[in-house]
Amino acid sequence: MNYLDGFTRINEGKMEDALKGLMKKAKSILENNWMDGYTRPSALLYPHQWSWDSGFIAIGYSTFDQQKAQTELRSLFRGQWKNGMIPHIVYAQNPSDAYFPDAEFWNTTISEEAPSGVQTSGITQPPVHAIAALTIYKRAIDPTSAFGFLKDMYPKLLASHKFFYTVRDPLGEGLAYIRHPWASGLDNSPTWDEPLQRIELGDTPQFDRKDLKSGVPREQRPQDWDYNRYIYLVELFKERDYDEAELFKTCPFLLQDPLVNSILVRANQDLAQIAEVLGEDQTQIKGWEKKTKKAINKKLWHKGHGFYDAYDLRAEEMIEVDTASGFIPLYGGIPSQAQARKLYKYMDSSSFCSMHEKKCFSIPNYNREGEHFDPENYWRGPIWINMNWMLMQGLRRYGYVDKAESVKTDIIELVRRYGFHEYYDPIKGRGYGSTDFSWTAALFLDTVFDDEAV
Ligand code: SER
Repeated sequence: MNYLDGFTRINEGKMEDALKGLMKKAKSILENNWMDGYTRPSALLYPHQWSWDSGFIAIGYSTFDQQKAQTELRSLFRGQWKNGMIPHIVYAQNPSDAYFPDAEFWNTTISEEAPSGVQTSGITQPPVHAIAALTIYKRAIDPTSAFGFLKDMYPKLLASHKFFYTVRDPLGEGLAYIRHPWASGLDNSPTWDEPLQRIELGDTPQFDRKDLKSGVPREQRPQDWDYNRYIYLVELFKERDYDEAELFKTCPFLLQDPLVNSILVRANQDLAQIAEVLGEDQTQIKGWEKKTKKAINKKLWHKGHGFYDAYDLRAEEMIEVDTASGFIPLYGGIPSQAQARKLYKYMDSSSFCSMHEKKCFSIPNYNREGEHFDPENYWRGPIWINMNWMLMQGLRRYGYVDKAESVKTDIIELVRRYGFHEYYDPIKGRGYGSTDFSWTAALFLDTVFDDEAV
């Protein structure tokens, strides 16, 4: 918690009033970003429907509007591919030229796997949807509608997990790969620098960085260096007609990362619970969960360092770059108690802002002492509320209640002091990126809601 920026903690009575006001504001942000069937992450920068945003947003709605929560997920799954993939963007029906790359640029219709009648991107994102579906069910005011929702969603959710175990794990290791930084959700994380450096660009097509016209300063966004490589990869996918077997052989960016795989483990746990509610067989799902847990501990755990890293399938080595993704296995209950202790110690050190430190907020997405640390730039240092939210739960799961409480306090304080931003400076606190960002509003609501329930 940072006490040096002129703000002080307020007393309990005033805090209650402040929380009420913030909850109202959070709901109005979601209302404003509601596009009659789905929720855009923010007004200017992200006008379409994003996959993991949508899951987090549905969790936010589940605290006050069951029907919207259900509609949000149902509408995302309209974009599901025939092979089960939930694409990272489902494009709005009325064409908007405010975002690059648009659906035409992805041209996913050349793939036999793409859905008909819905325009989507051609990559995936972390699979938080079973977690969202179960949360909606558990909080439902109308149990009949919630049961029907679960019943409809179950085969789709199952197919979306199966996709990771078949299409994205051709060697049957229990670890799913991603083939684009956007698929990680953490676009310009320093973890991707090394594998991206391997790309030999050649002739890059001309494109227009529309993100830089949204009012967000250039220094808070990925650089042209990153975008050139993002676009190179999309061009490669199109050249290969999105043929996954071909891309597994030839894509220069091919990674197994702890964030996607740990969320998959946690999502399997929730999907198994959904199967139980519906009286379906849980054997396959539990098998997946066990296999991925084991594989993460075997292949992504760096023994010497006591940390989880991504594995680069092209270089056949671990990428030793310390980002908050390496702590996310806590959220899936993956580490042993001994491993968790090591993670906890590192997380509560000055590298990621310790709980008693008075000069920073937790948890920066990248080690503050790391050579590329940049507190203003997207996934290269700032705090993201979705990461804090998962880590808060992971810490609770392992009994680190004080640290969990401190992360929770920072979620609330960052929002109270600076507003509902996309990301925050861990040192100065101030918010960056989009304002009125949907998942910040949604996960703030969830954090406060749980509080009331306790
Ligand atoms: N996060 C990406 C962007 O900034 C897309 O997934 O546009």
